[in-house]
Amino acid sequence: MEGTKRISEGNLDQRVETTSVDELGQLAETFNTMSSNLKNRQEELSKAHQQLSSSYQELRHLDEMKSEFMTTASHELQTPLSALQAYLETFLKGRYGRLSKEQIRRLKMMEGSIGRLTKFVDQLMDIARLEKGKLKLEKKPVMLNQVLKDVVQECLPLIKESNLSLTVEIPEDFPMIIGDEGRLHQVVGNLLSNAIKFTPDGGKIFIHTRISDKTVAVSVSDTGVGIPKEDMPKLFIPFHKLGRSQLLRSSKGLGLGLIVAKGIVEQHGGRIEVVSEKNKGSTFTCVFPVEGGERDGQWANISGGR
Ligand SMILES: Nc1ncnc2c1ncn2[C@@H]1O[C@H](COP(=O)(O)OP(=O)(O)OP(=O)(O)O)[C@@H](O)[C@H]1O
Ligand SMILES: [Mg+2]
Repeated sequence: MEGTKRISEGNLDQRVETTSVDELGQLAETFNTMSSNLKNRQEELSKAHQQLSSSYQELRHLDEMKSEFMTTASHELQTPLSALQAYLETFLKGRYGRLSKEQIRRLKMMEGSIGRLTKFVDQLMDIARLEKGKLKLEKKPVMLNQVLKDVVQECLPLIKESNLSLTVEIPEDFPMIIGDEGRLHQVVGNLLSNAIKFTPDGGKIFIHTRISDKTVAVSVSDTGVGIPKEDMPKLFIPFHKLGRSQLLRSSKGLGLGLIVAKGIVEQHGGRIEVVSEKNKGSTFTCVFPVEGGERDGQWANISGGR
């Protein structure tokens, strides 16, 4: 009979039999074409999925190899670097004979280079450890306010040399937190040294804290060059040093400090927040949980301070 339709069962193999060229017949033809296109697409999609999956496995493998290489290379470099540092110190102490001013000057330059290399190797090692989830924290109650004071003390000569003004607002009764003192020192040290590096002479730096029921926060603000909006997503990518042309002070930074700081803060159950505007300045805030915290009670709110 003209116009009789039979629809076979099945998902994408579904076809509509037609014997006429009437309107319904044309509709059925269109449906058949769409159905076959859809089937082709599904096959393509399935192939693409397989390719994506094997590329992902390959990338994971390469990533693991990279982490492995970073760990091995850093380990191998650490020993000779420590030996060099030790020899230099012995030379500088005059154990191998009196040194002229020029010799001392040159040896100090060598010491500076070794220091930078050591920092680089340590940062590489930290990144590899963070990637493998093997960064070990030595936790104990920490007076964060004291850590801040120590970092400020270390950076004061550079702040003065750079003609920057520094305002520090840390309450004496700042709560103690459970954490790794050395690592927290490293985090705040990087934030303050960044503020110094990226703030023009005569600019201002502020360190302030915020205490709420569940968190304590430490902020480092500056009136420096700021970070353009489009660069914000690259901020925590290793080796990304944004706007080198904007660099104000001689800096041999590698662009690893922030990613390491972020990893350390996250290992403490916290987070780093960034607010920045080009040519206006930046604020980097480390927020740490207290009172049991966001991570299985790693953090305790132990009142204290000096
Ligand atoms: N306070 C800031 N103001 C403007 N730009 C900043 C600030 N802090 C960080 N940045 C930008 O983010 C980049 C990454 O910072 P990060 O601390 O990781 O690296 P770095 O300071 O260049 O080197 P490193 O910390 O390894 O010595 C910096 O190179 C800079 O471009
Ligand atoms: Mg830095």
